Amino acid sequence: MLDAVAETPVPAHPAADDDAPAAPAPSPVLVRTRADLREVLDRQRGTRAVVMTMGALHEGHLDLVREARRRADHVVVTIFVNPLQFAPGEDLDAYPRDLEADLAKLAEVGADVVFAPDPETMYPNGDPRVRVEPGPLAAVLEGATRPTHFAGVLTVVLKLLHLTRPHVALFGQKDAQQLALVRAMVRDLDVDVEVVGVPIRREPDGLAMSSRNAYLSGTDRAAALALSGALDAARGAAGAGAEQVLAAARERLVAEPGVRLDYLELVDPETMEAVPADASGPALLVVAAWVGTTRLIDNTILDLWKDE
Ligand code: PAJ
Repeated sequence: MLDAVAETPVPAHPAADDDAPAAPAPSPVLVRTRADLREVLDRQRGTRAVVMTMGALHEGHLDLVREARRRADHVVVTIFVNPLQFAPGEDLDAYPRDLEADLAKLAEVGADVVFAPDPETMYPNGDPRVRVEPGPLAAVLEGATRPTHFAGVLTVVLKLLHLTRPHVALFGQKDAQQLALVRAMVRDLDVDVEVVGVPIRREPDGLAMSSRNAYLSGTDRAAALALSGALDAARGAAGAGAEQVLAAARERLVAEPGVRLDYLELVDPETMEAVPADASGPALLVVAAWVGTTRLIDNTILDLWKDE
């Protein structure tokens, strides 16, 4: 049995009566098991897009769903806080969860199906013994402090691709290294899906949206602006080359006592390897920092030696 099925037919044309209240957006079909997911997907005709999330949805996630809506006939959103990508001591238990609120937001942007399995459904035999080996791209930046993280991410992404069988899968540029790794996996393992990257959605003051922003206290929230501020400063220095870019960003970050820098690097967007000091053309500036007890990441693409 399906938990919820959108049974209200959507009229092809809105009611002629302008005073009539707008019809509520139909809820997505919520499925929790493999069997129910298969049943729903087997009924779909045409193309399918998938957006994978860990829930606690914000406008950044919803941008992915909106883009998915533009690219395919059907949109499946997965909500699963994947234990495999959290190391002991990370925020697995504290990670914000609110399925009801997520479903309401997904109804607004027109997701058709939400697959929200529990860990026993995703990993019926316990932690999987076979996992995706992400290679050297996963050893740097985020992987340097979280050595098992990307094996956990790619393993669940591959499983979810197999379970949802999409034509297109959308990922945020917010997690640039994750996006590069998903692209590399799809290419290296011949996964038959188109991967689409979606730009970073920011708060009006520049802070990159993240489910983890909910952890920030008032003072942390103000200090966190140093990350996006550093990226802005760096973009302004792109015309002067790599060293100036890094110096401009670092200056902004060290000026904020509430921020403890983890890494700040200018890398090749595909390989995540540091670019040489005389590099020109597009480069990815990535930053990770602790603000209070919360670890935040942000990034921007800039064009070295060209004024932005
Ligand atoms: P989660 O952190 O929930 O993010 C889900 C997707 O939303 C990712 O592709 C992420 O890059 C994107 N996203 C998050 N914040 C964004 C923002 N401000 N602007 C644009 N896109 C944003 O990333 C994961 O979950 C997990 O690792 C997952 C891929 C689901 C595997 O478990």
